[in-house]
Amino acid sequence: MEPMRKAIEQRLARVLRARADGPGRVGQALRYAALSPGKRVRPLFVLAACEAVGGPWKRALPAAVAVECVHAFSLVHDDLPAMDDDDYRRGRLTTHKKFGEALGVLAGDALLAFAFEELTRLADDGVPPARVNDAVRRLAHAAGAIQLVGGQALDIGAEGRKPTARLARDIHERKTGALFGASLALGALAGDADKHTVQALDETGRMIGLAFQIQDDLLNAAGSMRSLGKRPGTDAARGKATYPAAVGESRARREAIRLLRAVRGALARRCAKPERLLRLIEALAKRER
Ligand code: IPE
Ligand code: IPE
Ligand code: MG
Ligand code: MG
Repeated sequence: MEPMRKAIEQRLARVLRARADGPGRVGQALRYAALSPGKRVRPLFVLAACEAVGGPWKRALPAAVAVECVHAFSLVHDDLPAMDDDDYRRGRLTTHKKFGEALGVLAGDALLAFAFEELTRLADDGVPPARVNDAVRRLAHAAGAIQLVGGQALDIGAEGRKPTARLARDIHERKTGALFGASLALGALAGDADKHTVQALDETGRMIGLAFQIQDDLLNAAGSMRSLGKRPGTDAARGKATYPAAVGESRARREAIRLLRAVRGALARRCAKPERLLRLIEALAKRER
């Protein structure tokens, strides 16, 4: 994955500097948020999905950066005092702790807007307008009121009482699953996949995202500040509607493994060059941060 990871880091740093350097400290704050050492899982999925459907992965780089900017926006806002009120992220102070709450809000806003500016750059590398259009629509839907924002609203509203499995799953599918679905779909669009494959990868990506969020819950309960770069134990402290809280730790663990195993078969059948995509899923299955 190393060439892909490097290309993501380079483009992310370059375009944020060149095209999102707002006045005062807002440019600094959004770069602090987005360029801090995240795992870059979603943009790696964008590029690996492009390759998996037979496309040149570099063509999907604007989509990879766009997805990471949406993710960075969601984290900055997720950490705000009005939401999860967290002080540490990626081994550093959260953006609002470092720059103040107002700049935290604004840096998040700017990253969300910039994501769509960047996504239109797919056209610069020859992705046809109808595909760029579809990509914009999918990313906007995944980021908006029905999916990510809606999931975050449900997540906050569900604090403090024991969730049903159905509610925990609904929250996870919206707040995290949808953006993973969009990541794979955007990669497939950039890679010139037919519309059935784009849709199939979107659905597979949602399952990966659900598994990923279940793992995040498990790690919150059992991981350390040192390995996670964020404070553990916060879900229990806030009474979050997590998957383990709904069904217990061991069932949650089994469900994450089951989901990741199920998607491997689906991808191997659907894609011409799925090797790197499958390796990424294997790495997720073992993740400890
Ligand atoms: C954390 O996402 C928030 C979730 C949706 C689970 P990541 O685990 O991908 O966070 P970074 O980008 O590596 O910091
Ligand atoms: C993050 O969920 C989901 C989004 C930011 C959309 P969490 O609140 O569970 O993630 P962490 O544990 O703070 O990274
Ligand atoms: Mg949260
Ligand atoms: Mg949080």
